[in-house]
Amino acid sequence: MAGRLDGKVAIVTGAGSIGPGWGNGKATAVLFAREGAKVFAVDINGEAVAETKAIIDGEGGDCLSHVADVSDDRAVSALVDTCVEAYGGVDILHNNVGLVEVGGPETLSEAAWDRMLAVNVKSMYLTCRYALPHIVARGGGSVINLSSIAATHSLGYPCASYAASKGAITAFTRNVALEYAAKKVRCNAILPGLMDTPLIRASVTGAYGAVEAMIERRNAQCPMGFMGNAWDTANAALFLASDESRYVTGIELVVDGGITLKVS
Ligand SMILES: NC(=O)c1ccc[n+]([C@@H]2O[C@H](COP(=O)([O-])OP(=O)(O)OC[C@H]3O[C@@H](n4cnc5c(N)ncnc54)[C@H](O)[C@@H]3O)[C@@H](O)[C@H]2O)c1
Repeated sequence: MAGRLDGKVAIVTGAGSIGPGWGNGKATAVLFAREGAKVFAVDINGEAVAETKAIIDGEGGDCLSHVADVSDDRAVSALVDTCVEAYGGVDILHNNVGLVEVGGPETLSEAAWDRMLAVNVKSMYLTCRYALPHIVARGGGSVINLSSIAATHSLGYPCASYAASKGAITAFTRNVALEYAAKKVRCNAILPGLMDTPLIRASVTGAYGAVEAMIERRNAQCPMGFMGNAWDTANAALFLASDESRYVTGIELVVDGGITLKVS
């Protein structure tokens, strides 16, 4: 089935990828375009977002790339204005940007803690602040926030600032969902489990010693015997972005192959 997002304009933040391969944001941007959306792809890394745009262009899709730091108020205001100028409005806001850092209260610096909360949580407040009036003006739409099972469960290593940021995102999502329900704007969170993406190779390998050990351990932790990937996240996002989820708001869509069903 194609065309599930025909006529929609989607802002996707973190639409690049931190390394080679498919990150959640990159896969989601490409999938949204394949389903007919005009994709306004945002990333702090110009090369990474240009690569995503090139993939979408190569497939005949419609994409504009934009470089911005989504934790910066003025940059977010400008990116929303640029999207509206270029595409005439906003229907879907996909808040994918998120950092991961290993560490607990005694090892995380205050600066690292502040950066985590600014990039992971404040960014979503800012994009909502500037995009929601435009989504409301279209008669409704969808906001999707990337949280994590770390909001409620241990990932097997200390990541206090990451877990705190993801817990805040799920609470923020529920609150926005209720405030905007009457305006037909849905707001939902996706909680991926252990996913094999460039992000984990770059950010959590240290907790396991080496990349191979990390992949093996994480696969073994998963009830299905393997980690999910960026397309599992993107397909969940597609459902929440499309009108098929028109009566779904404020949920935490867990995409984890059953890992949160386990006691240990
Ligand atoms: N991979 C997993 O196992 C997993 C599990 C649960 C949740 N998640 C969530 O998925 C999301 C990201 O996944 P991904 O695979 O796309 O990661 P990624 O790191 O590959 O891509 C994220 C992109 O965000 C960009 N970015 C970082 N800071 C930015 C900023 N301040 N402004 C604009 N862009 C910025 C990066 O340049 C990068 O291209 C995060 O919210 C993460 O917490 C991932």
